Amino acid sequence: MFETLKEQPADKILALVQTYLDDPRETKIDLGVGVYKDADGKTPIMRAVKDAEKRLWETETTKSYTKLAGEPAFLDAMIGLVLGDAVPRDTVAAAATPGGTGAIRQAFELARMANPDVRVFVSDPTWPNHLSILKHMGIAAVPYRYFDDESRGVDFDGMMEDLAQAKKGDVVLVHGCCHNPTGANPNMTEWQAIVDLLLETGAVPMVDIAYQGFGDGLDKDAEPTRLIASSVPETIIAASCSKNLGIYRERTGVVMAVSQKASAQKLNQGTLAYLNRQLYSFPPDHGARLVTTVLTDDALRADWRAELEKMRTGMLALREQLAAELQRLSGSDRFGFIAQHRGMFSRLGATPEQVDQLRDAHGVYLVGDSRLNIAGLNEKSVPILAKAIIDVGI
Ligand code: LMR
Repeated sequence: MFETLKEQPADKILALVQTYLDDPRETKIDLGVGVYKDADGKTPIMRAVKDAEKRLWETETTKSYTKLAGEPAFLDAMIGLVLGDAVPRDTVAAAATPGGTGAIRQAFELARMANPDVRVFVSDPTWPNHLSILKHMGIAAVPYRYFDDESRGVDFDGMMEDLAQAKKGDVVLVHGCCHNPTGANPNMTEWQAIVDLLLETGAVPMVDIAYQGFGDGLDKDAEPTRLIASSVPETIIAASCSKNLGIYRERTGVVMAVSQKASAQKLNQGTLAYLNRQLYSFPPDHGARLVTTVLTDDALRADWRAELEKMRTGMLALREQLAAELQRLSGSDRFGFIAQHRGMFSRLGATPEQVDQLRDAHGVYLVGDSRLNIAGLNEKSVPILAKAIIDVGI
């Protein structure tokens, strides 16, 4: 029966990781996959996570199953982190998932269970795996305009025009902060207008928040999510702990369904637990326990926040250095958007040929759509990248 299988397209981000590894040049620069790196190119285990791991090793007494929706303490901690006190706790159903991708998958499953004909509106561009999962599930993806190629900011008018086509029964997928792959984000006035439009159309928002704390700070980055969840009748949220706690391989995430009707919570909670059972039974627990330990212990939480803040401000400094260097080399302000963008990524707006040239002639690896991972840079590689960008004529 396997002879009927077809080759599946490689994920372009993951394929790039291998191409980079195969490149023998010592001067190569990896600005591809969205993994944080420090100035030495290492992806560190955060101090608080390491401490939590030690504590866990000493105190954990069993590896028996956790709860089907994950540990309630983890869910409470994550709801607090993402939603603050924007909505009453008893309006939120939540389940632990294997990473943010698991949360996205469960969110789509939930939407499809509620409406078998659901369409999901996705920003153009969006994280490629959103589209891949939707295609795999046979759910229609409807692109909405998002990125203005000229300004490299949000094409807000285009976005609003396209989102006006969404209807009750549709889902509108937005990136809560640090848009992946562009780095361009709506401001709070624009988010309010998006919320007003959602209220008008009746479409359900789904917020993918994978980079909380990498943009303008933990609470600032959660503001759009909190505004949405507190304003519309129903919200779906997929949150990841991979980046802001640096626990990529532990696969730790959470899916939430917020319903202003508190009476809906029980049904939503049961449905999320059911979905876990169908896809993988119990969610992974190790990473979730680390997160709970860090978020619920005052000293660990403070230390984690401080380390995360250092990562965030470091990325901002690199953005500013790169924008300034490009201004110097180009004699123009046309790269100012790099300092305006937030999160790990910026879309340069280069052609695929220019991206190829950056790789072939300069050993600089960007994703094909010209997304660059700011965290892959350091003070020394910024001038090298700036020169390469000008050399290939971007
Ligand atoms: C990315 O966008 O590079 C990250 O989210 C990693 C991934 O899984 O694609």
